[in-house]
Amino acid sequence: RAGFEGGIRQIINTLVDGLTKLEYRGYDSAGIGIDGENDWSEDSPIREIQLYKQVGKVSNLKEEIISHHPDVSETFYSHVGISHTRWATHGGVSQNNCHPQASDDRNQFAVVHNGIITNYRELKLFLKNEGETFKSDTDTEIIAKLFKYYHSKDPDLEFYQLTKDVLYQLQGSYGLLVKSVHYPNEIIATRKGSPLLIGVKTEQKLKVDFVDVEFINDSTTEKTTESNGNFLPSKDFNTSSLRKSESRAILPDNNMPIEFFVSSDASSVIEHTKKVLFLEDDDIAHINHGELHIHRARQSEGMSTTRPVHTLEMKLAEIMKGGYDHFMMKEISEQPDSTFNTMRGRIDFKNKNIILGGIKQYLSSIRRSRRFQMIACGTSYHSCLAVRSLFEELTGVPVSVDLASDFMDRSPPIFRDDTCIFVSQSGETADSMQVLKYCRAAGCLNVGVVNSVGSSISRETDCGVHINAGPEISVASTKAYSSQFIALVMLALKISNNVIDNRERHEEIINGLEEIPNLISKVLDKKDEIRDISLKYLHGKDSMLVVGRGYQYASALEGALKIKEISYIHAEGIQAGELKHGTLALIDDKMPVVAFATQDSFSPKVNSAIQQITAREGRPIIIMSEGDKMIDQSKASACIEVPKTVDCLQGLVNVVPLQLMSYYLSVAAGNNPDRPRNLAKSVTVE
Ligand code: F6R
Repeated sequence: RAGFEGGIRQIINTLVDGLTKLEYRGYDSAGIGIDGENDWSEDSPIREIQLYKQVGKVSNLKEEIISHHPDVSETFYSHVGISHTRWATHGGVSQNNCHPQASDDRNQFAVVHNGIITNYRELKLFLKNEGETFKSDTDTEIIAKLFKYYHSKDPDLEFYQLTKDVLYQLQGSYGLLVKSVHYPNEIIATRKGSPLLIGVKTEQKLKVDFVDVEFINDSTTEKTTESNGNFLPSKDFNTSSLRKSESRAILPDNNMPIEFFVSSDASSVIEHTKKVLFLEDDDIAHINHGELHIHRARQSEGMSTTRPVHTLEMKLAEIMKGGYDHFMMKEISEQPDSTFNTMRGRIDFKNKNIILGGIKQYLSSIRRSRRFQMIACGTSYHSCLAVRSLFEELTGVPVSVDLASDFMDRSPPIFRDDTCIFVSQSGETADSMQVLKYCRAAGCLNVGVVNSVGSSISRETDCGVHINAGPEISVASTKAYSSQFIALVMLALKISNNVIDNRERHEEIINGLEEIPNLISKVLDKKDEIRDISLKYLHGKDSMLVVGRGYQYASALEGALKIKEISYIHAEGIQAGELKHGTLALIDDKMPVVAFATQDSFSPKVNSAIQQITAREGRPIIIMSEGDKMIDQSKASACIEVPKTVDCLQGLVNVVPLQLMSYYLSVAAGNNPDRPRNLAKSVTVE
């Protein structure tokens, strides 16, 4: 903010309230960087940067700052603060890993970061050779240190020029905010693959409703920075063509107070201003003493040369839902990204390698296990069933899958050489927690497969894998299912990659996994067709059956659970081989049936189950592989074609039409799919 009267407490309140708005996305810790009380150095009147960090809720952070930070009440020409809530990707949940990350003890540069830097290991090595030591396990700390490194090489660089040098080194995704004692009253906001927007608030009308983007002269040249035997290629930017005209920037006018709100999410900005401009990948926004200029990290062909100021018409709740009517639809639609995120940094698709840092120390003990025991509830239980046979196939070790509540009722023997795998989205489910306590007492090895970082299950297991699906808000679980499924497949691959006989199968599965986000997108493209089929054949029914076998038995159970819990239609998931042992008695021309009949080695048996249904006047909706000529479509109500993938991964594709069906049936019945009656997101009672 520039030209405002007020205390620093106002800035703190704005930042902390903004973080509170983002808590719905999940958090495990939060931090803030603001100007401190003291001067940074004796010969400089610049204020030091004060960092506050807290693990847990944002409210913890607020208490910490208010109790420590003096309320410097004054008219400041301009002031910059940065803040962040973290959802751990690299490094556990701890104060050291909170953002802002600083370049050094003197906080010369402070950085907050969303995203993942994929080449952070190489950069860390380079910086270590330069004599840097690291306090955190984050990839973000290397960014702060790179700023310091390039600044020490050329202290005369403008902040945005320095940023270009740093960005040139980074691979991966980022939304970054940078504050520095060397550039007081300035801030850098830049992005690549992670969203970032800037809200602009003034009392008067803005002189311009767009910002011109810097023109980069293409005569930039490659250079190499050499030190201590390290090489860091970099680029010499020709910046002489900057600031072509005054109209390119948003500038304070006649002491017009101006406030900028930079955020990854409009929900934290909308209460302050509806005027926002959205940054594009490789934009470097430089807010400097109340002026906003936009530069480019690299030139891109055909990109617009202005960033218009938009007026947001959406309400806060709509923004949080990303334009979807419900969180559930948002989360179903996010699956191409969430499944990708589960694999990101864990699968080296080129070398067909799995990297699971969270179980590294325990891998040899896991491999020595005589039995795998999987424990979960509801949807998470279905993800275990979905991978059970693959686990057995690859590891050659028997796998039991149990519902946590049933397991506790039986209290079966658990041996020290068992590995128990606890699968949970929330990591707080009381039934699963109770089994975990039981297993800990039995002395076996406990592995968590959890979405919520820092949750009870992730803390109390010996080791584990975070599924990294991002926060799931809708009560009905969708994206957590696909990410749990993938995390368990990766676990099976990792445990069994010392078995030479598995090599070809491993390659096949890893290649298949690479394609999954794309295949899920293809099913999502069929949303309208799936909605129409659901409304025509299933809306208004009291009861229905979902049939599958082999790998698709889990899809049938999960599909039926989704339909039950949000559309309130009684739905039963049936193993196709079991039809003839009882359920066939229910089949007539009125009983709706959805049958999974995608191609795999069980197809002949599934096709015969479909014939048993059609012979009794049943008219199933068949989920089949694209172009499969073996399916007799003549007696089906409808067929939904889905792309084919490796047999053990097909469930990831097949479950999506059922997720969509349940959603459309719920909405058509006038229900709120995000809040099904009688259910809670995190079941913390037994
Ligand atoms: C169904 C659903 C529930 C949960 C179950 C376990 O859509 O969400 O069945 O899967 O309550 O919860 P977590 O995975 O948090 O242990």
